[in-house]
Amino acid sequence: MVRRVKHIGVLTSGGDAPGMNAAIRAVVRTAIHEDIEVSGIYRGYQGLIDGELRPLGARSVANIIQRGGTILRTARCQAFFTAEGRARAAETLRENGVDALAVIGGDGTYRGAALLAQEQGIEVVGIPGTIDNDIYGTDVSIGFNTAINIALDAVDRLRDTAASHERLFLVEVMGRSSGAIALYVGVAGGAEAILMPEIPVDLDQVADSLVAAQTRGKTSSVVVVAEGAVEGGAMAVQRAIAERCGYEARTTILGHVQRGGSPSTRDRVLASRLGYTAVKRLQAGEHGVMVGIDKRGTVTVPLQDVWTKTKEIDWELVEIAHVLAV
Ligand code: F6P
Repeated sequence: MVRRVKHIGVLTSGGDAPGMNAAIRAVVRTAIHEDIEVSGIYRGYQGLIDGELRPLGARSVANIIQRGGTILRTARCQAFFTAEGRARAAETLRENGVDALAVIGGDGTYRGAALLAQEQGIEVVGIPGTIDNDIYGTDVSIGFNTAINIALDAVDRLRDTAASHERLFLVEVMGRSSGAIALYVGVAGGAEAILMPEIPVDLDQVADSLVAAQTRGKTSSVVVVAEGAVEGGAMAVQRAIAERCGYEARTTILGHVQRGGSPSTRDRVLASRLGYTAVKRLQAGEHGVMVGIDKRGTVTVPLQDVWTKTKEIDWELVEIAHVLAV
């Protein structure tokens, strides 16, 4: 076996996502299989700057595949946005003899990763992990499936009470700049309207469409609102439209509940696949890339593309949601 990489560092960055632990486990165990040493870096890029490293073995990642959150902890690190911060991070890696880095995280993770690779010549591979599913280069990111299932369960429960009281329910889901959760949960939960940051929201039009639905015989409605769709979120939507619809209205903000809990089967399998692939690709000499998944199977995308390009939302699903909400 060619032992090109000798020591990998692994970290999680940005918002935690269910399945990150499964990805850490996959990185560690694949590395061991390839005879590569692994160090866990704690608290994301901040820990990399501060030198918070600990060796990880096969037993360090036992019994974590089913756990939400991340055993490595995570952070959103401002210092890593500076060249000095990245230089310090590279120093930590060199001091500890780490010759490659696997970063598991969301959209904000990849700019830092690309710059670390460019400026410091560090071999980096990314693994997409965010409930938002807004990362360019992969059809799906680790955590999305679990988050939409949690949110959908809540929508189903709220529909029961909405129907019983003939009320309008506004359900706010996560997604400051991404409507992917709202779109999937809205379609799967049969929402009367779905509001997302990618599509300008006309609250008059939303109110009119709810009134029209009442005229067609609907006695209750559910509107799914991504947190970043409207300034002030779902509460602001309630204030703007409830009276005009003549509904008694209630708002439920799901918040961080969507980020916790045991990962779904899909997320565990995805995380295992991507963690494994990340190490295999590094070992084969491929770096400066993120591993992802699309119709072709497992793919790699340059880190530069990941942070400079924008993932399109599923416009066909937007149209389907509209047609089905009669
Ligand atoms: O990026 C994941 C996410 O959960 C977003 O959906 C949300 O807008 C944001 O993180 C919340 O961030 P924080 O946990 O820092 O409040």
